[in-house]
Amino acid sequence: MIQSMDSNRLFHLRNPWLSLVLAVRGDGEGCDELLMAYLGPPLDEPGAVLPLMQTWEGASFDSLRQILPYACPTEGRGDYRPCMVSARSLSGLNCTELFFESFRIEAGKPGLTGLPASYTEQAEEADTLIITLKDPLTNLTAELCYTLYRERPVLAMSARYLNAGTEELTLEAAHSACVTLPGRYDMIHLHGAWARERAPERVPPAVLTRTLSSARGASGHEHNPFVALAAPGTTEFQGSCLGLALVYSGSFSISVDENAYETTRLLAGLNPRCFSWRLLPGESFQAPEALCVWSEEGLNGMSQAFHSLLRERVCRGHWRDQERPVLINNWEGTYFDFDHDKLMAIARSARDAGIELFVLDDGWFGQRDNDLCSLGDWVENRRKLPRGLKGLGEEINALGLSFGLWFEPEMISPDSDLYRAHPDWCLHAGERRRSTARHQLILDMSRTDVQDYVISAISGVLRSAPIGYVKWDMNRNFKETGSASAVRQEEVSHRYILGLYRVMEEITSAFPEVLFEGCSGGGGRFDAGILYYMPQIWTSDDSDAVERLFIQYGTSLCYPVSTMGAHVSAVPNHQVGRVTGIGMRGDVALGGNFGYELDLSAQSPEDLAAIREQVQLVKNIRRTTQRGVFTRLLSPFEGNVAAWQFADEDRVILCAYRILAKPNPAPVRIRMQNVPQGLYRTADGSEISAGSLMNAGVCPDFPRGDYASCVMVFERKN
Ligand code: GLA
Repeated sequence: MIQSMDSNRLFHLRNPWLSLVLAVRGDGEGCDELLMAYLGPPLDEPGAVLPLMQTWEGASFDSLRQILPYACPTEGRGDYRPCMVSARSLSGLNCTELFFESFRIEAGKPGLTGLPASYTEQAEEADTLIITLKDPLTNLTAELCYTLYRERPVLAMSARYLNAGTEELTLEAAHSACVTLPGRYDMIHLHGAWARERAPERVPPAVLTRTLSSARGASGHEHNPFVALAAPGTTEFQGSCLGLALVYSGSFSISVDENAYETTRLLAGLNPRCFSWRLLPGESFQAPEALCVWSEEGLNGMSQAFHSLLRERVCRGHWRDQERPVLINNWEGTYFDFDHDKLMAIARSARDAGIELFVLDDGWFGQRDNDLCSLGDWVENRRKLPRGLKGLGEEINALGLSFGLWFEPEMISPDSDLYRAHPDWCLHAGERRRSTARHQLILDMSRTDVQDYVISAISGVLRSAPIGYVKWDMNRNFKETGSASAVRQEEVSHRYILGLYRVMEEITSAFPEVLFEGCSGGGGRFDAGILYYMPQIWTSDDSDAVERLFIQYGTSLCYPVSTMGAHVSAVPNHQVGRVTGIGMRGDVALGGNFGYELDLSAQSPEDLAAIREQVQLVKNIRRTTQRGVFTRLLSPFEGNVAAWQFADEDRVILCAYRILAKPNPAPVRIRMQNVPQGLYRTADGSEISAGSLMNAGVCPDFPRGDYASCVMVFERKN
């Protein structure tokens, strides 16, 4: 519901979980500024927040500008915090004032041209308020778009900037969203590195500006484009918090600024360090979308709202609501050392285990026997695959499995036919040395001819063989971010992402039944932007079961289980050398999109029997693990036992993991949360009520030894 009140000077967006109040305030000199007067739990009387503004009027010196919650703060007018907009004129002046001009209300949610965004299927799902602000001198216009979902605690925000004047402007910052909240908050963010992505860190309030960012051209392993502001004392289960996720896959910035007046400003958008955009008269710039969730039910409440939003209204297409196939990927099983017969041996043992999809990873094209060459040459290697991809795919299909393929579409090896033909197709900075990483350069996706090549090369392969799945990798980050064809080099970083989105849109819509999985050196581009095109992402190159507990736990703060690829791999584990049992490895992987990444033909008969059982279990319960409500119960970051649960109308599932064995240990009792009312059948055939599961709790029966797990499935009786 959106109400416009007080002669269109007060706007109230409200649903059962949250209210947003935007107020137009005269600055005393005839100009109207837009304030975000309130964002929080639903208000009955939105006007109640206005007296608060009046107390601020008494502020002295220049403090008012540091206190007022500007909806779109601009550079050069005495707001000294990080600003939403910084626009420089040709003469070099950087001073912008944006005043309220008009508003409109729309049912549903408009799309964002050229960018991924959350969406509605019916107009009744959401209401949108679009407010136009304008600079009276330069005529720079900002359209701020606020969409409130009716049945979700979700507010989507974005901004479009238009040069309606006669003079060229340069946007040096053009953020997506600005939220100012009274008070002090813990900041929770996800940080990491290759193979140890998305560890949550909770930082107490501090009178500082703290910025999460990427300048890598991908959202990156280091910081994820997600943040939560939690009232001190908020836990997984109770308390208030605001979460924000940016729907963008390139260099981003999210800053949290707390000042001396105990107000906290959250600003999210493209990273100004890698961004500058020339806006000629009549041109506009669309900033990406930021998704905000308000929770009064702790961090789990916030995560659950993100999970259903991302799963149902960011992911799209045929696979959005489908059960995901149990897959086997040959990467850790063979690396580059495979041929047709070796792959078929793995595929046959996969068929015997009940696996549904065989994925051929890196090394099938050009001369690629290692990572030194051939990226860009998407032509099957007939020496390794004498019957070609088509022959291999058909034989795999004949076993009853579908066939999937790895690509790294955005890359080019200097040792490739593509590079020899088009040495100017990579990102590079004029005559400066072109530095490689993993022996490769990055294709200049800001160029339309390069985009067209990638679309036609990948589509050609997809048409040439029965391919039902694609793993879309991206294994290095930007350096020397320039383009041979760009007039405005400073725009290449963002234009690359716009080009990438065009390519992803064209390929995924041309092959609607193919299941696409994103990847970037493991989980280096795990963001809501990618999820708009690909409903799942490889979570990390670290496939060790213990490490994965931490990575999947952290990732779940924002991202749903149905988006996280999780595989059982060989032991000793290839990343850390740890030996865990097949049970633990399977039980951890079922907290994601389940698969295997090992040479099944080399497993012991006992492990193969266990694998057959695991695959059957996953098939029985995946509806619940992939689409049910996921709740974190015990954090591996806080203790030796980690636990989470899944729940839907059919069953609840408790997954518990004990990392190290202890002598004479205290009993572990885990109370399940929000179990739907009713009676449940346990594995031994007895009955237990929802109340008992939640109040008395359950004691997992861990096997002896380190790295022990226990998965308990409680089937609901009619
Ligand atoms: C990246 C991916 C891996 C694998 C290799 C292949 O590291 O994350 O899963 O596909 O590339 O080179």
